[in-house]
Amino acid sequence: MHDFLFGIYPYIALAVLLIGSVARYERDPFTWKTSSSQLLRRRQLMIGSTLFHVGVLVIFFGHLVGLLTPIALFDALGISHGAKQLLAVIAGGVAGIMALVGGAMLLHRRWMDPRIRKTSSFADIAILVLLLAQLILGLGTIFISLQHLDGHEMTKFMTWAQMIFTFRSGAADQIADVALLFKMHLFLGLTIFLVFPFTRLAHVLSGFFAPLRYLFLRPGYQLVRSRRRRPLDERRAAFDRRQAVAGPKAGGK
Ligand code: HEM
Repeated sequence: MHDFLFGIYPYIALAVLLIGSVARYERDPFTWKTSSSQLLRRRQLMIGSTLFHVGVLVIFFGHLVGLLTPIALFDALGISHGAKQLLAVIAGGVAGIMALVGGAMLLHRRWMDPRIRKTSSFADIAILVLLLAQLILGLGTIFISLQHLDGHEMTKFMTWAQMIFTFRSGAADQIADVALLFKMHLFLGLTIFLVFPFTRLAHVLSGFFAPLRYLFLRPGYQLVRSRRRRPLDERRAAFDRRQAVAGPKAGGK
C-alpha cells in the first residue's frame, strides 16, 4: 500500500493535473468565475482573500524550491540542512497561519451567508475544506520537525520528491519510516493535485498562463465587456439604419 500511495499515486495525480489542466484551459477557459459574490460581505472577502492568497503563494513557492532544489546545491551554497529546516518551519509556519486564518474567513463567508452559499457549487466548498485540512496537517508537522532540527528528516522528503520528478524507482522507500502525519499531508497534497483541474483552483492557471498567452499566442485577441445599456443587437441595427440613410460616413456613433 505504501509503495502504491507514494510510488505510483504521485504519477496518477500529476498526470491528471497536467492533462486535466490543459483540457480545462483549452475547452472551458471562462468557467472559473466568482458568480459575482464579491458584492456580498466585501470586507470579509478582502481580508480573508488577501491573507489566504499571500500565505498560500509563499507556501507554494517555498515547497517548490524547498523540495525540488537538489540537496547538493544547498551544500555547495553552504546552507546547512539545519538552517533550511529552521527556515521551512518559521517561514512556512507564518505563511501557514496566515493562509489558515484567511481560508477560515473565506469558508465561513461561503458557508454561512445563504446568498453566497446559493451561488457556490459543492466543489467550491469542498476544495476550501480540503485546503484548510491540508494546512492543519502541514502546521501539525511543524511539531515533529522541531524534534528533527538537524534537517535529516527533511532531506528524506527532498529525495522522495526529486526521485518522483526524475522517474527513478524506489522513491517510496525514502519515506517509509516518516511519521504518519507527514504521510497524511503528502497524500492529501497529491489528492489536491488530482482534483485541481475540476475545481475553482483552476483559476491559478490564468495567473500563470494568461499573460503568456496574450503575449505570445494570441496577439490582438481581447475580451471586451460593454458598459452600454442598449443590447448589442439593437445597436447593430441602429448602426445599419444610419449607414443606409447617410452612407459609410455615418460612422459608428
Ligand atoms: C503534494 C503536495 C505537498 C507536499 C509533497 C508537501 C510536503 C510538505 C513537507 C515535506 C513539509 C515539511 C517541511 C519541513 O518542515 O521539513 C510540509 C510542510 C507544510 N506544508 Fe506541505 N506539502 C504539499 C502540499 C501542501 C499544500 C497544498 C499546502 C497548503 C495548502 C501545504 C502546507 C504546508 C504547511 C503550512 C507546512 C508547515 C510549514 C513548513 O514546514 O513549510 N502543503 N509540506
